[in-house]
Amino acid sequence: MNDVMTGRAFLRCDGWDDWRDNPTDQKKGVPAPPLEKPFPPGVQRIDLVAPQDFAIAPIALLDAIRRRKSQRAYSAAPLSLAELSFLLWATQGVKEIVLGGQATRRTVPSGGARHPFETYLGVQRVETLAPGLYRYLPVEHKLILLSDASDMYPCMNQALRNQGRDCAVVFAWTAIPYRTEWRYAAMSAKLIALDAGHVCQNLYLACEAIGAGTCAIDAYNQTEMDELLGVDGVDELTVYCATVGKKVQ
Ligand SMILES: Cc1cc2nc3c(=O)[nH]c(=O)nc-3n(C[C@H](O)[C@H](O)[C@H](O)COP(=O)(O)O)c2cc1C
Repeated sequence: MNDVMTGRAFLRCDGWDDWRDNPTDQKKGVPAPPLEKPFPPGVQRIDLVAPQDFAIAPIALLDAIRRRKSQRAYSAAPLSLAELSFLLWATQGVKEIVLGGQATRRTVPSGGARHPFETYLGVQRVETLAPGLYRYLPVEHKLILLSDASDMYPCMNQALRNQGRDCAVVFAWTAIPYRTEWRYAAMSAKLIALDAGHVCQNLYLACEAIGAGTCAIDAYNQTEMDELLGVDGVDELTVYCATVGKKVQ
C-alpha cells in the first residue's frame, strides 16, 4: 500500500465490528487513565477567570459563523487574561466529571467522552502573564508555567515554519492516544483526529466573540514541536496548532 492509500485507510470505519467483538482495556477492567496529564505536586498553579465570571459581550451565533475566517495577521494588542481564560474554556473547558471520575463532559464533543488532548500555550502577549510556555489544566481551570526561556517564541515559530506570524499566543494541542485507546483500541486514531477539529472550530468561533482571530496549523515540524513541548512523540504527541491574536482594526 502506498502512502496515499495508508492515509485513505485511516479514514475508513472498517474495524468497528472487530472492536465490538474483542476485549479492550476498558472491557478487561483496566483502570481508566487520568482525565488530564498529571502535574508535579506543589507546582504553582495560575488562576484563570472562572467561566461564571466571564464578561464577554454577547455575539449572535450566526454572526460568529458568518465572520469566521482564518486570520494570518494580528494587531500588537495583547489578549487579557479573561479573554485567554474564555478561549481555553471554549476549547477544552470541563463542565462536569462523570462516570465516577472516568470521563469529563466538556464544551466540545469527543468520541466516548475520552477527551484525549492537552493544551499547551506559547504566550507572547497576554496581559499579566509573563511570556513563556504554559499548560492548561482543564479540570482545575488553571495554568502551569513550563518554561520562561526567552527564546521560547522564536523556537515555537521555527517549529511552526514561520507561521507564528507574531501572534499573541499559540495554542498547541497534543494527544495522549491511550486516553482514547483504553476504550476504542485500534479505532482511536481517526476519532482523535475528528475530535481535534471540534476543538479548533470552537476556537475560531470564540475568537469572534473577543475581536480576535485564529488560524489552524497542521503544517508544523512534528519533532521540533514535540521537543519544545517536552513530549515524547509516541505516548503524547502534537496533533494540531493554532495562532491567536487581536484583529487588525
Ligand atoms: C486541518 C487544517 C489544517 C490547516 N493547516 C494550516 C496551516 O498549516 N497553515 C495555514 O496557514 N493554514 C492552515 N489551515 C487554514 C486553512 O488554510 C483555511 O481554513 C482555508 O484556507 C480556508 O480559509 P478560511 O478558514 O478563512 O475559511 C488549516 C485548516 C485546517 C482546517
